[in-house]
Parts: sequence; C-alpha cells; structure tokens
Amino acid sequence: MYKILFKQDLTFNTHLFKVAAPNVAKKAQPGQFVVVRIDERGERIPLTIADWDEDEGSVTIVFMEVGTTTARLALLEAGDSIADFVGPLGLPAHIENFGTVVCVAGGVGAAPIAPIARALKKEGNKIFSILGARSKDLLFWEDELRSVSDQLIVTTDDGSYGRKGVVTEPLKELLESGDKVDRVIAIGPSIMMKFCAKTTEPFGVKTIVSLNPIMVDGTGMCGCCRVSVGGVTKFTCVDGPDFDEHQVDWDLLFARQRIYLDEEKCSFERWQSQVSERS
Ligand SMILES: Cc1cc2nc3c(=O)[nH]c(=O)nc-3n(C[C@H](O)[C@H](O)[C@H](O)COP(=O)(O)OP(=O)(O)OC[C@H]3O[C@@H](n4cnc5c(N)ncnc54)[C@H](O)[C@@H]3O)c2cc1C
Ligand code: FES
Repeated sequence: MYKILFKQDLTFNTHLFKVAAPNVAKKAQPGQFVVVRIDERGERIPLTIADWDEDEGSVTIVFMEVGTTTARLALLEAGDSIADFVGPLGLPAHIENFGTVVCVAGGVGAAPIAPIARALKKEGNKIFSILGARSKDLLFWEDELRSVSDQLIVTTDDGSYGRKGVVTEPLKELLESGDKVDRVIAIGPSIMMKFCAKTTEPFGVKTIVSLNPIMVDGTGMCGCCRVSVGGVTKFTCVDGPDFDEHQVDWDLLFARQRIYLDEEKCSFERWQSQVSERS
C-alpha cells in the first residue's frame, strides 16, 4: 500500500497528494507518469508525476475531479493509502538547451509542465510560460511556474484574473514579436493542445504535447492508448506521452477519448447515488 503523506486542495476540484513511493521517486524524470488504483476493485488511471523527492521517498501527483475514480480519490486524506502506484512510466520529456522555450499550461496542465519547465531552465533555456484557466478559481501553481520562468503570462477565459482570453492569444503574440522561439511545449486539455498546434504551425516552431488518451495497463500491452502520429500508430504509454503536436491525428484522439462516455456517465451516476445513500 502507498501512504498519502500530505494532501492539499489546490482548487475546489483539483487536489495534490504527496505519496510515499520511494522506488518511483528514485527513478522519476520530468514528463513521466504513474498508474494509480485506489483499491483492488478500482479502475487504473494514469496521473503525471508533478514532483518527487528522492530523499523523502515521496512522489507528488495533482488531479482534477472529472469522474468516478478521481472523485473517489479526492475523498482520501493524508494517512490513507492507495493500493497501486505503478511507475515511473512513459518516456521522460526531452530536456536540452534549445534556447528559448514557451511552456503553455491549461488548467490541470500546470502540474505536469512545472517539472519540465524547471528542468529546461536548469539546462540554461530562457523560459516563457503561459498559464491559462477558464476562471480564477481554477488556477493554481502560478508561483511555482513563475519561479522557473523568465516571464509568466496568466490568462482566464472570463477575465476574472490576469489577461482575459485563451492561451493561444499571448502565444501568437510571442511568435509574432520577432523574438526567436526554439520550441513550444503545451500541456492541458486536448482541444487546447490542438489549437496551440494550429497557432505554432505557420511559424514552423517545433511543438511538443503530452497526449492523454485512455490508458489501461500503461506498459504497451493492451493497445488502448493507440494514437496516430505522422501516419504511424504509436502507443502513448511507451512511445510517449510526448509527441510532435503537428503530426498528431487529433480527430482520432478525440474519437477514442469518447469511446466510454456512456459507461463513464453511468459509473459516475451510480457512484453519486451510493454516496448520497450513505450520507
Ligand atoms: C499520461 C496521462 C497523464 C495524465 N495526467 C493527469 C494528471 O496529472 N492530472 C489529472 O487530473 N489528469 C491526468 N490525466 C487524465 C486522467 O487520467 C483522467 O482524468 C482520469 O483517468 C479520469 O478518470 P475518472 O474515473 O475520474 O473519470 P471518467 O469519468 O472515467 O473519465 C472522464 C474522462 O477522463 C478520461 N479517462 C477516463 N479513464 C481514463 C484512463 N484510464 N486513462 C486516461 N484517461 C481516462 C476520458 O477522457 C474520460 O472521458 C492523465 C492522462 C494520461 C493519459
Ligand atoms: S495503456 Fe495499454 S498499451 Fe498503452
């Protein structure tokens, strides 16, 4: 069992757990993820490693409540334990001195992008970060991203904090400004990543996204996380999760993400009725 050492509510529906997992902490690298299962009957879900501390033997995950498993996870507290915490999985993010890198984070994407931005900064890159959310109450880790960035721009769709609008607007302005941008990294909802791709494509700037298809085993065995990149089939869990954004078949990704919508809705309704019966 993997004990939750610390819990923090980052927003009303986004939570941080620091989990005792020394073997994962020993090998973790930016961009990798773990597969979590709450108990022996639970669903396996992938969550990105947001931070780790080898000395403490701890790994930090940040998750947003979107369905049954993440809602169940949110009910756990420090001192509780998780049955499975498998990782680190996936290929680490490519870290080198590219020059100037723009890191674009949407919503919960702030957590996975932070260790990548930190590692890129350490490697000597100039980091421009753009952090966006629908509204102020969904924003978190502004300070964490600021501390690893030369410049940070915050946007909210409704203008409740920072600049009003979506992340692609300051991204386009940066690309148009004439400052050389060597790489863009975008992590967030798939639709946001797709629009970042559309924004950077005319400028010919290499753009990397962290894809989030449905995963089951996370080790290349089930084929569930199949995506098409440059016309070639890839398994996100072992060939990614990072891919060249301009090569991704977004329509296939969106279609595959929706495969189990009816089952997910049914599962969530069942879970909600069980919770309300108990209370
Ligand atoms: C490599 C990777 C890293 C991720 N990192 C994070 C993270 O750091 N923080 C975070 O909040 N979310 C992350 N996700 C998404 C997270 O796995 C899903 O939100 C979670 O599985 C939803 O489960 P649920 O039962 O709560 O919701 P459900 O109601 O079951 O599903 C809601 C939606 O979540 C997605 N989803 C459902 N099951 C899975 C699954 N087994 N694998 C992947 N996606 C699924 C689907 O798009 C689905 O429509 C990551 C996904 C991937 C692939
Ligand atoms: S999750 Fe099964 S092959 Fe990737």
